[in-house]
Amino acid sequence: MTNIAHRAAMLGLLGLTALAVSGQTKSGAKDRPWMDTTLSPERRAELVVEQMTLDEKIAMLHGEGMARQKHLPAEIQALQDQSNGGAGFVLGVPRLGIPAIQMTDAAYGVRQSADNGRYSTALPSNVGSAASWDQEAACAYGKLIGDELRMQGYNTTLGGGTNLTRDPRNGRTFEYMGEDPVLAGTMVGARIRCEGGEHVISDIKHYAFNDQESGRQEVDAQISERAGRESDLLAFEIGVKTGHPDMVMCSYNGVNGTYACENTWLLHDVLKGEWKFPGFVVSDWDATHSTVKASHAGLDQEQPLDLFYGEKLKQAVESGEVSQDELNDHVRRVLWAEFASGIIDYPVVRGVVDAQHGFDVSRKVEEGSAVLLRNEHATLPLNAQSVKSIAVIGFNADMGMISGGGSAQVDAPGQIGGTPWRKHIWFPTSPLKAIQKRAPNAMVSFSSGEDVADAVEKAKAADVAIVFAWQWESEGGDLENLSLPEKQDKLIEAVAKANPHTVVVLETGTAVTMPWLDSTSAVLEAWYGGSKGADAVVRLLFGEVNPSGKLPMTFPKSEDELPRTTIAQPPPPVKNGVLSFKVDYNIEGAAVGYKWYEEKHLPVLFPFGFGLSYTTFKYSDLKVGKDGEAVTVTVTNTGERKGAEVAEVYVHLPESAGEPWKRLIAYRKVDLAPGESKKVTMEVDPMYESIWDVAAKKWTRPGGEYHVMAGPSSAETPLEATFSVR
Ligand code: BGC
Repeated sequence: MTNIAHRAAMLGLLGLTALAVSGQTKSGAKDRPWMDTTLSPERRAELVVEQMTLDEKIAMLHGEGMARQKHLPAEIQALQDQSNGGAGFVLGVPRLGIPAIQMTDAAYGVRQSADNGRYSTALPSNVGSAASWDQEAACAYGKLIGDELRMQGYNTTLGGGTNLTRDPRNGRTFEYMGEDPVLAGTMVGARIRCEGGEHVISDIKHYAFNDQESGRQEVDAQISERAGRESDLLAFEIGVKTGHPDMVMCSYNGVNGTYACENTWLLHDVLKGEWKFPGFVVSDWDATHSTVKASHAGLDQEQPLDLFYGEKLKQAVESGEVSQDELNDHVRRVLWAEFASGIIDYPVVRGVVDAQHGFDVSRKVEEGSAVLLRNEHATLPLNAQSVKSIAVIGFNADMGMISGGGSAQVDAPGQIGGTPWRKHIWFPTSPLKAIQKRAPNAMVSFSSGEDVADAVEKAKAADVAIVFAWQWESEGGDLENLSLPEKQDKLIEAVAKANPHTVVVLETGTAVTMPWLDSTSAVLEAWYGGSKGADAVVRLLFGEVNPSGKLPMTFPKSEDELPRTTIAQPPPPVKNGVLSFKVDYNIEGAAVGYKWYEEKHLPVLFPFGFGLSYTTFKYSDLKVGKDGEAVTVTVTNTGERKGAEVAEVYVHLPESAGEPWKRLIAYRKVDLAPGESKKVTMEVDPMYESIWDVAAKKWTRPGGEYHVMAGPSSAETPLEATFSVR
């Protein structure tokens, strides 16, 4: 039987109708003991499993194809159309009141809405949100996405990107949370917790070591257990333990010789065993490579189809290769996620996105995320009253701001025909218009920068030149280098030469090199700014809001300082399903990002944790609590404007750890009025101060003296204190 015929037959067998699959049936809670909300999600899932047939169980363990895949039977298509048609769709069990799972991508906003004329909010890129170092902002981010998912008919998110920035050229860096496991883990945890709180199945991905796009289905990431546990896996561990996702997406790549989605160490031993993750593991799209092996390793659900978890899984169960217990465990985990998230108790009711609310949240997140990298002679903030003329320069800076592509792409208003793959999408948030509105008395000129002479002429004639520079990134490819594309370096150089008051606003998904830096007056890293990026940036440029973002990744001086000078490429011909080349992550091991530069004594362009403000801050009174499990520091606003400062705390482990780099152990963003001081106490999880003891299989703090440091960035830690572990 073909896949399609099989699925059509299955539908008949399961007695499905469009209404039934939504989970709305006539019989009430009384006939269904699992609808007793006083029972635990575990118990409720167990009660459902007891009632299910083998076919119903198998159907719950694979997808039914991505939306609008033409070959799907019309009945399934109709069910998918109850949402906007997402990336993944799993049949429910109507006779038991279990709804279908409707999944869509939602990295920085809900994907796939334009076809229905129902746009979703684009938040700033994930890396931008990490740059806020603000867990409340991360929570607002997740909550908004959770809410809009349901409005669009989805009950499951494919968000929660957590892969560490091992290489800033990774094309998905904008979808992740930077280079530090504590920052990435805690920030994604806050996002997931609040997203899941809206009663959607929440997700963390791509588990694990999917740290480059080139040959992502063929690359075998090599990493030692200790280095892996202290880097990418630590980010996931924190994300899982603080965010409580219902679902974990395993990644495309191999890890130490075995694909992630059939990797017993990753799935069975670490995630489900040690971390006690109670939910289900879903494969990335077409990242399943086997039936029995994957099932034994801990993969619970295949997406987007049923190549390994349809008929083949059924046969494996019937032949006893996969036991009933193992099958039931997969199913129980999916059901657990449905009960724990609340998608059964609070069925999705489609609605309309509150666009204005979305704009407000998006703008505020961006205001807290943009990082002021340079501000010579207090060029910024601009004074809207006194500035007489401004030249706005930059491709499309008259109409919009760039966004990140691939499966993360949010449809921009006005865009129709579904989500384009790897196409530059500019959100209609115009820097030029926002500036004209903010400074109505100034002469504002515009040049797209394509004609450098025109840009130079306009820059010369103005008090201030503002260049909006961009760098586009997307899933499906890495960046060749960290230079701004399309000769923008030359443009900025020429403009800065023509006007001594040149401000550069960067719309990038990752670090960029800045050969022109010294000739500019100010640089603001705005990341991908989201639906209201221009308003946020202009409020920052004119001082209505004081910049408070800090870098979640190092900006290196050049690619030469990276652990690998180029990104490894798959050898041709590319054979899908075969790990054909390796990438050695043991080069840097656990020393990802700033730890690497510190270990190798390499100067950088801008360090991890760096970001300026329009006011100044002073740090004093660092105290380390008993056993290093709490840290207190006083931060004072010593300037004349109110502002927010991220207090950062690092530690150097005793020498015996063999890790000669500092690591972030705590941070907190504090609002401070001029002259105000705040004493900030931060709890520190001892795990953040530990090394992974491979032999003992546990986190340990080696005996000796720990040097704790606090300050405004990883490169500036004026306060020091110590504690000892025996
Ligand atoms: C991506 C995932 C995404 C999935 C579904 C894959 O290409 O790696 O992040 O969730 O597609 O769109």
